[in-house]
Amino acid sequence: MNRRAFLEASARLAALAALGQLGACIPSQPFKFEKDPFTLGVASGDPLPDGVVLWTRLAPDPLTGGGMGTAPVEVEWLVANDEAMKDVVRSGTYGATGDLAHSVHVEVSGLEPDRVYWYRFRAGGAESPIGQTRTAPAAGTMPQALRFAFASCQNYSQGYYTAHANLAREDLQVVFFLGDYIYEGTARGDIVRDYSKRGWSFTLADYRDRYAQYKTDRDLQSVHAAFPWIVTWDDHEVENNYAGGIDKEDPRNKAALIERAAGYQAFYEHLPVRTPRPQGPELKLYRSLSYGGLAKFFVLDTRQYRSPEVALCREPEQTPSGYCPASVDPARTMLGAEQRAWLLQGLGDSPSSWNFVTQSVRFAQQDSSSELGKHIFDGVDNWMGYVADRQMILDRFTGTRNPVVLSGDSHVNFVYDLKRDFADPASATVGTELLVTSISSDGDPFVEQTQFTPPLKNPQLRFFDNHRGYVRCTLEPTRLTADFRAVSTVRKPIATVSTTATFVVDDGKPGAVRA
Ligand SMILES: [Fe+2]
Repeated sequence: MNRRAFLEASARLAALAALGQLGACIPSQPFKFEKDPFTLGVASGDPLPDGVVLWTRLAPDPLTGGGMGTAPVEVEWLVANDEAMKDVVRSGTYGATGDLAHSVHVEVSGLEPDRVYWYRFRAGGAESPIGQTRTAPAAGTMPQALRFAFASCQNYSQGYYTAHANLAREDLQVVFFLGDYIYEGTARGDIVRDYSKRGWSFTLADYRDRYAQYKTDRDLQSVHAAFPWIVTWDDHEVENNYAGGIDKEDPRNKAALIERAAGYQAFYEHLPVRTPRPQGPELKLYRSLSYGGLAKFFVLDTRQYRSPEVALCREPEQTPSGYCPASVDPARTMLGAEQRAWLLQGLGDSPSSWNFVTQSVRFAQQDSSSELGKHIFDGVDNWMGYVADRQMILDRFTGTRNPVVLSGDSHVNFVYDLKRDFADPASATVGTELLVTSISSDGDPFVEQTQFTPPLKNPQLRFFDNHRGYVRCTLEPTRLTADFRAVSTVRKPIATVSTTATFVVDDGKPGAVRA
């Protein structure tokens, strides 16, 4: 038994032992909820060919700590072949405990590959909504199509989730969420709907209540109930622009690490991730998931191990290359040595037809200087602050089949050619980046902008658009098609959706082309 399996088994045994004690205290009175405990909906995630993670959290009072007290509660889970939940194929019980906010993470196995299933939970006489999920295709098969979407940045206070309402109606097998699932801060900017608890999240109780408020949204719940999700985080799950690669022994970092441990635990408690529970300020989130031989998704963690952000340097300190000296320092890292070695090895070894680097922040270079002959690469929070790691990945892309980077964080859409050497516009395009706008963050655009012509200073940029929405993809063995979907507004609870642009990437031809 490995360490993870041991820890999980120990936790389960402890929970069941506690349940036994609970049952002994009140043997003849079955426990009944007075209020619906399934206020946060249901979710599934991290699909494998034989299983999926099922999630819920018991929270009859979601906005004030959950209302569950500390006693463990037994939760029954069911997986069925049919939406009416008549033909149950797997079932079991899970001991939900107060130390994890009565969250439930069931790792179901023994399912058939590439199949739709339905699931629900029961506890204390209450029944959850029914969710739909889907397993991944079997290893060794070549699926003829994979339909997926990706999204990021869902600031609750800055807009309604009209993008989610439309996303839930798409015909998809899986959804990727690339970070900023919550915003830890107080509501700011143009506030469309306020938080019930204002201020900043710093304690575990604060983060839990913030997640709970996000997850009470019916449109967000509907996307979770419709498809399995594969999730990574960005900064706002803990704190704006934080960098986790700090010295854990340095007493000056103590407060930051306590806050991070709270943020990581609340993230774990609210998402359907296939990871061991966090150990203080550590949670191993990076992982890969495959869809037969068609696609492999390398899901990165660009926060936990990154070197501290460099200060933005302007002239005269700027180097001739336009980068801050620290940004190109090979001693600094975005991924940390372990994750970077895992990614480079995985990209080199992958037999998949398409290889997606699924992560939070902008990967490509973008020059923000308007003067010809001058450069400003001021994206110190994204990969422009970590040039050495980026170059190692770009170099590895030359030996990788169809590498595509999926990103978020910018609150606008971008499509980039990824150049082997960004300093030389004539160098080979070795990959493609599709960067998705926000679900709601920054609200409706003041002036709507959609641009297809590459700007003179940034010839690698193929598309820019500033609507709210998500990206819907169809992947076939020889072609990736990406539809940039835009909603008409996030200022009202109901909106229409339309396709602003469609780009395709053909097998063996890195770089996206407008369809
Ligand atoms: Fe964001």
